[in-house]
Amino acid sequence: MDNSYSLVILALIFCPILVRAQSFDFAYNGFNNSNIIRDGIAIINPNGALKLTNRSQNVIGHAFHPNPVPIFNSSTKNVTSFSTYFVFAIVSLEKTSGGFGFAFTLSPSPGFPGAKGAHFLGVVNSSNDGNDTNHIFMVEFDTVDGHDEGVDTGGNQIGINRNGMRHITSESADYYNNATSETKPVDLQNRESIQAWIDYDGMSKVVNVTISPIKVPKPIIPLISRDVDLSPVLKETTYAGFSAATGDKASSHYILGWSFRLNGAADPLDLEKLPVAPPEVVTSSKNSHLKRALIGTFCSVVILLLGAFYIYRRMRQHEVLEDWELDCPHRFRFRDLYKATKGFKESELIGVGGFGAVYKGVLPTNGAEVAVKKISSNSLQGIREFAAEIESLGRLRHKHLINLQGWCKNKNDLLLVYDFVPNGSLDSLLYRQKRDIVLTWEQRFNIIKGIAAGLLYLHEEWEQVVIHRDVKSSNVLIDGEMNGRLGDFGLARLYDHGKNSHTTNVVGTIGYIAPELTRTGKASTSTDVYAYGVLLLEVASGRPPIVYEPGKGALVLADWVIECLQLGNILDAVDQRLNSVYVDKEVQMILRLGLVCSHPRPEARPTMRQVMKYLNGDESLPVFEQQLSCIGSGRVDEITAKFLEVFSTDTINISHRSLSVGQTSSSSLHSGR
Ligand SMILES: *[C@@H]1O[C@H](CO)[C@@H](O)[C@H](O)[C@H]1NC(C)=O
Ligand SMILES: *[C@@H]1O[C@H](CO)[C@@H](O)[C@H](O)[C@H]1NC(C)=O
Ligand SMILES: *[C@@H]1O[C@H](CO)[C@@H](O)[C@H](O)[C@H]1NC(C)=O
Ligand SMILES: *[C@@H]1O[C@H](CO)[C@@H](O)[C@H](O)[C@H]1NC(C)=O
Ligand SMILES: *[C@@H]1O[C@H](CO)[C@@H](O)[C@H](O)[C@H]1NC(C)=O
Ligand SMILES: *[C@@H]1O[C@H](CO)[C@@H](O)[C@H](O)[C@H]1NC(C)=O
Ligand SMILES: *[C@@H]1O[C@H](CO)[C@@H](O)[C@H](O)[C@H]1NC(C)=O
Ligand SMILES: *[C@@H]1O[C@H](CO)[C@@H](O)[C@H](O)[C@H]1NC(C)=O
Repeated sequence: MDNSYSLVILALIFCPILVRAQSFDFAYNGFNNSNIIRDGIAIINPNGALKLTNRSQNVIGHAFHPNPVPIFNSSTKNVTSFSTYFVFAIVSLEKTSGGFGFAFTLSPSPGFPGAKGAHFLGVVNSSNDGNDTNHIFMVEFDTVDGHDEGVDTGGNQIGINRNGMRHITSESADYYNNATSETKPVDLQNRESIQAWIDYDGMSKVVNVTISPIKVPKPIIPLISRDVDLSPVLKETTYAGFSAATGDKASSHYILGWSFRLNGAADPLDLEKLPVAPPEVVTSSKNSHLKRALIGTFCSVVILLLGAFYIYRRMRQHEVLEDWELDCPHRFRFRDLYKATKGFKESELIGVGGFGAVYKGVLPTNGAEVAVKKISSNSLQGIREFAAEIESLGRLRHKHLINLQGWCKNKNDLLLVYDFVPNGSLDSLLYRQKRDIVLTWEQRFNIIKGIAAGLLYLHEEWEQVVIHRDVKSSNVLIDGEMNGRLGDFGLARLYDHGKNSHTTNVVGTIGYIAPELTRTGKASTSTDVYAYGVLLLEVASGRPPIVYEPGKGALVLADWVIECLQLGNILDAVDQRLNSVYVDKEVQMILRLGLVCSHPRPEARPTMRQVMKYLNGDESLPVFEQQLSCIGSGRVDEITAKFLEVFSTDTINISHRSLSVGQTSSSSLHSGR
């Protein structure tokens, strides 16, 4: 065979190798089983997310692609065109506490030994910051105001840096919306996945940086387009990676997917399959250890159910915080909820409460019926902080509670997905609708017991004391088996979060607010018992707690029941629609119990545990006549009276209207007991 033939063979053999040498590329769709180099506190979450830092203060995390990037073109000796694309998420509980940011880096080694955190982002320190011998190029995603030397101003910025923290240029984070020709801001640290592209053209020596929310395709106009010659900056051996750091303020920084290509556009990522940043718990307060333990416990329970008790023990021992990220409660896609409720169509509306509208929905994913509560808040802060608590609310599970299945945040709307309960609310069955259906005494007694069990669970049987703060008949929903289920627990917190921490709200509904609550603003299990007492009176009498009659003033149900009692005929207070078909002893007991529970003096009220004993007949209710007679009238406290004046024309809505008065208040979720 002649030489030319073997040359052809050689060419055929080496050609693909040469081509491959020129096209260096990689794509991580999540980081499961990846051989990415990590240091500092960077970890790979079980869901495949690369977590560079958690919310500990003053920590650093790095991650690098293991192989150096052949970034110099061997023939031109210039830096080759490259393109990188990644999806990230930054989770901080509130804007003011977030920090510090992360950077995409090109550097001579896969690490930054001696680097400092906080505003040095784990890349340099004060002695080598800006030194040309660093050979570092970085694109910085800042979340903290007031960078060093006044270079940065606003936070939520993206900047391009060489060899240190000084920006060549920076822009506040936004993206160009081609459809509307508008520029829209992107909140870098709101936990949502955000896409970023960094493109370098080796010929024109221009760096483009583009970002967009996860659902928006790459904008046609980059956020930053800037002349930067990388050839003098970078070294022959260069690694690509990320660095993130926290300071006295801290956020979790996640990279969810990452691709890179020389001489061409970086590969797209499979956005559907990428992991998401899990919701995180509040760890700032002193009870963070407790909370962590609580979380551990819940996740363990899940696993317990799967029959793996030993794992439970191990998890507790190691306090594996990352593991509760088992998506509890489930975070729904907005798209699915939108579809489920036919676009939040008027016809799907099943109720409007103090916190927002409730829509019936059928999940497209599994056809399950759900109730979707849409809470619009002007206070993004409020929503964000509340979102941190959803995690704990979502873990409350009881037969007599409306379980929170999951949630979703969309712009200023918080969507809460609950079990769908078909038979409507108790107030509508008792007196709101002129339906033929009259709840029998048996059904009523059963509902009362159920709600007591639900409240007892919130007060005493869960890991934390949860104060409902808005117990009322319209919050009691009746399921297919005519059981009562209590809804809206914990939502009262939403009001708190919108305000500053020194003044919070008294939240409740007229007719159900314990007198001491309006004075001190301090909600307690005892104020819940008060409201439960009013509910008992409602159920037995079939009347709303307060009716305003022109000329007569406010008719307070409890006053009237006391009157009947004092006249020696408490059964006059019983709902006439029952047609005298009821168990005499039970009805009397419920009316008396209602009065005792809604006693103006908190110390006179029983606990829910005692209430359960009375309801189950384990203990008989002591005779309270003496005590009750001294309650007298004047139960309508000043504030209630004032509101009644204002709303006097609207009888029906009085008991529905949420009252909110600025006063100091304790939180509804008390740690420990
Ligand atoms: C080097 O640059 C030349 C001219 O721009 C280009 O044709 C070639 O593909 C580049 N090689 C590599 C390995 O990037
Ligand atoms: C990564 O692993 C987790 C848990 O094993 C799994 O749920 C997830 O789907 C995986 N992600 C990818 C992209 O394979
Ligand atoms: C962050 O990670 C470090 C190291 O894994 C751990 O010691 C620390 O407790 C974590 N902090 C938080 C707030 O999770
Ligand atoms: C490489 O860079 C030098 C200086 O930066 C420039 O003069 C030259 O034209 C570049 N070569 C190519 C092929 O871009
Ligand atoms: C700063 O970083 C350099 C380079 O890694 C290192 O040699 C030096 O010791 C560090 N200086 C301080 C004060 O940490
Ligand atoms: C830059 O770093 C080199 C080597 O670490 C050092 O010799 C030099 O003095 C530094 N330059 C400045 C301006 O700090
Ligand atoms: C951007 O918008 C213009 C006009 O609305 C349209 O013609 C073009 O196709 C759009 N480009 C992309 C990438 O969506
Ligand atoms: C950078 O952006 C400019 C302006 O939109 C564009 O003309 C150029 O092609 C972009 N370069 C790269 C490498 O994407």
